[in-house]
Amino acid sequence: MFHPLQVREIERLTDDAVAVTFTVPPELHATFRHTPGQHIALRRSVDGQEIRRTYSICAPATDQPVLRVGIRLVEDGAFSTYALKELAVGDTVEVMAPAGRFTLAPRPGHFVGIVGGSGITPVLSIATTLLARQPDARFCLIRSDRTAASTMFLEEVADLKDRYPQRFQLLHTLSREEQQAGLPSGRLDEDRLRSLLPALLTIDSVDGWYLCGPYGLVQGAERALHTLGVPRTRIHEEIFHVDNGTATAPAVPTPAHSTVTATLDGRSGTWPVHDGESLLEAVLRNRADAPYACKGGVCGTCRGFLVKGEVRMDRNFALESDEVDAGYVLACQSHPATEKVELDFDR
Ligand code: FES
Repeated sequence: MFHPLQVREIERLTDDAVAVTFTVPPELHATFRHTPGQHIALRRSVDGQEIRRTYSICAPATDQPVLRVGIRLVEDGAFSTYALKELAVGDTVEVMAPAGRFTLAPRPGHFVGIVGGSGITPVLSIATTLLARQPDARFCLIRSDRTAASTMFLEEVADLKDRYPQRFQLLHTLSREEQQAGLPSGRLDEDRLRSLLPALLTIDSVDGWYLCGPYGLVQGAERALHTLGVPRTRIHEEIFHVDNGTATAPAVPTPAHSTVTATLDGRSGTWPVHDGESLLEAVLRNRADAPYACKGGVCGTCRGFLVKGEVRMDRNFALESDEVDAGYVLACQSHPATEKVELDFDR
């Protein structure tokens, strides 16, 4: 469900990125309280067409929620162009309640974020909340950006270093800029991480790894951690920007006359699934309130529990393997592999 919220503040972070803060009225405080790492979906209509995008919350989690998101301009991005060029303080935007499972509720331990570009956004909320709330926690941030001028939240991260010199460690690499002596430059890829991480940390002492950024960086970091013996259960990933076609499975033949039965907000219905369409599209034709944001297998908003039947997913960058094993699927990426499929969005 979307809520109309007013824009309270827009701050320019870099030439191509802004932070947008919304006013959350007291009656919606409970709705908009977030776990660090979560995102919100924003919606607007352009020429009768609905556009939805998800953006991670960069503010720390507090009882009186501060709803601040980081938005970077994406080439030809319908929403980001609007946010950077047209959106003004006082405008109203439709916003969905925070969602997502790339989260860390504060607890004692040693945690590491490996982020690229705008991937800093959820990890900033994670690190800031953790260090403020949990005196027995440490956080190491390894970030990669093209240049210092293009780096989002430079000041906020510097502030963490000043406030928690004993518990916050930072390694910042710039891929397109010479750095001062002693600081590494160049891309953060698998090889580099494999040699850099053991020099920087005691790998076994890390309780959770949070990887966020472009597909290539996250995949490279995951492979490096795997080689270093880190168990999969300690690795959490969120991918921003997936190129069209990246890791897309071949089209799946849908059985003729297949149907989907979907339960949403306690109400169920059964509808046909047309050739080639996803379960989400079939449900959306009949239930406009079906949850989705990216339609690209990245945000996880369309997650549903597969009660009956089988599906094939084109791609999945949102669900952890234990969620898939438990029976969850992404409706926007799922096609029926049996004549009848039953999906529960409420579980
Ligand atoms: S709508 Fe984002 S993963 Fe399906």
